[in-house]
Amino acid sequence: MSVVVSDTEINRAKEMIYELAGIYLSNDKDLAIKNRLNRLIKSCNIQNFDIFFSQLKNGKFKQEFINTFTNNKTDFFREDFHFVDMLDRILPHRLKKTEPLKVWCSAASMGEEPYSIAATLSYAKDIYGSNTPCSILATDIDTSVLETAKTGEYVVDTCITPLPEWLDLENSFEIIPKSERDVSIKIKSTLKNLITFKQLNLQLSTYPFGYNEFDIIFCRNQIIYFKIEDQEKVLKKIFSYLKVGGTLYLGHSESPLGIQNKVEKLGQNIFIKVMD
Ligand SMILES: C[S@@+](CC[C@H](N)C(=O)[O-])C[C@H]1O[C@@H](n2cnc3c(N)ncnc32)[C@H](O)[C@@H]1O
Repeated sequence: MSVVVSDTEINRAKEMIYELAGIYLSNDKDLAIKNRLNRLIKSCNIQNFDIFFSQLKNGKFKQEFINTFTNNKTDFFREDFHFVDMLDRILPHRLKKTEPLKVWCSAASMGEEPYSIAATLSYAKDIYGSNTPCSILATDIDTSVLETAKTGEYVVDTCITPLPEWLDLENSFEIIPKSERDVSIKIKSTLKNLITFKQLNLQLSTYPFGYNEFDIIFCRNQIIYFKIEDQEKVLKKIFSYLKVGGTLYLGHSESPLGIQNKVEKLGQNIFIKVMD
């Protein structure tokens, strides 16, 4: 039997997801919130919303609640000009240095983005004959997508998501055709070994790594889920972990709020950090 979800519950859910993850849900999402709330309390085996929200306030079901309200849309080589920029502009010089190269993917979702980064790095190391140690930290607040990411197994509709032809994918991915459109992709262990998946809430006041630690940060299609004032706060924090001279990639509809005067813009939402 489904429990009635009134405007009160919808508003409580909106307040809680904002409090826990900084995610702002507008009124046009009400129907989706209602459906997701119904599914959630059923899966938690709870009979009514008063019990559910009071338990949530005490920390129970917190992760399930967060996982329910994230939007995890992602693809392999999404906005692929960022990977091409890495390959053509950054890596030819950077991979000549012996100092380890570190990349942070701050909204990794189900893993397609960090594996695309890893495949680009691995291809670049081959073509530039580099031994530079490379690593990728891939974080997300949602624990269920991180579990999917760790498996490294996907089915991709290549009509919707065509795979790029500018790198040798076979080196990194085991690709098996399943139908005219679909392929199954298994990430090879050499690629998996480049990535550490970790849960991280970008709303925390600081993050557990060193300032100026990363050469490259991918922060794409994530901060749009925050209020403008929160986008600016989070972006400033993320930016403090990027080296001067490092590159920040933002999603197509995101802006470098609050850091405009510290970056050089290259176009296509590619930003080089010019000062701390
Ligand atoms: C739409 S996906 C973007 C995935 C990928 N970056 C891309 O561009 O394809 C947004 C991701 O941000 C994550 N997210 C939302 N709020 C977050 C927060 N407070 N901290 C960390 N990650 C968050 C979601 O779980 C989701 O996986």
